[in-house]
Amino acid sequence: MIRACIFDLDGVLVDTAHFHYEAWKRLADSLGFEFTRSDNERLKGVSRMTSLDILLEIGSKKISEKKKHELADLKNNWYVEHISHMTEKDVLPGVLNFLQELKNGGFKLGLGSASKNALQILTQTKILRFFDTVIDGSNVEKAKPDPEIFKKGIEILKVKPAECVVFEDAVAGIEAALAAGTFVIGVGSREILNKAHVVIPGFQEMNVKLFQYFTEKYFVKQLNNYE
Ligand code: G6P
Ligand code: MG
Repeated sequence: MIRACIFDLDGVLVDTAHFHYEAWKRLADSLGFEFTRSDNERLKGVSRMTSLDILLEIGSKKISEKKKHELADLKNNWYVEHISHMTEKDVLPGVLNFLQELKNGGFKLGLGSASKNALQILTQTKILRFFDTVIDGSNVEKAKPDPEIFKKGIEILKVKPAECVVFEDAVAGIEAALAAGTFVIGVGSREILNKAHVVIPGFQEMNVKLFQYFTEKYFVKQLNNYE
């Protein structure tokens, strides 16, 4: 039986990918190379410093560790400037309803995001109130696809991995959740997120009934495989 859900933030509950893109692109421009939207796909779900490493690899730039931290801070200042204008209107369609339905249904809710800006975004968009725990980039040592973030969430929410569903939009996040032993619902494109147990395009059509149907169907399939 499912008792808890852990949500990724960027790309699942709010659409911040374009703000990250704007800020990374501004950094690439200032360093004198091109950074495209398809390059940006590689940064989804990846920590800030690893994102910078990928960006520098794209631009074939080699720089010192000290300079790297300066560049990451610069990018983050631009990003924070963008997100400082976010409000509840930036919560993706259907999310508020679904979170409320889960809350009413007695599910425990957690947030598991690589972002160190997660608390600010949750506060500004007024969805912090739904979560029993928030685990973000400041609480973990190993970034996704390592399962640390979801394992921590499961432990804090006091449920077993098989009693937990993770919602993720990034390949690294789906791998992390699978390694933590949870049921995984991908949010986005079926082709990209094909390792998830189920993929939904977004939360517009989502409700607790459908959610329970997905998880029960999966467990019955597991049981049949076992027999
Ligand atoms: C999320 C995003 C990534 C981002 C990471 C770190 O996982 O999908 O694109 O790099 O968080 O975010 P931060 O706000 O700490 O730079
Ligand atoms: Mg994400």
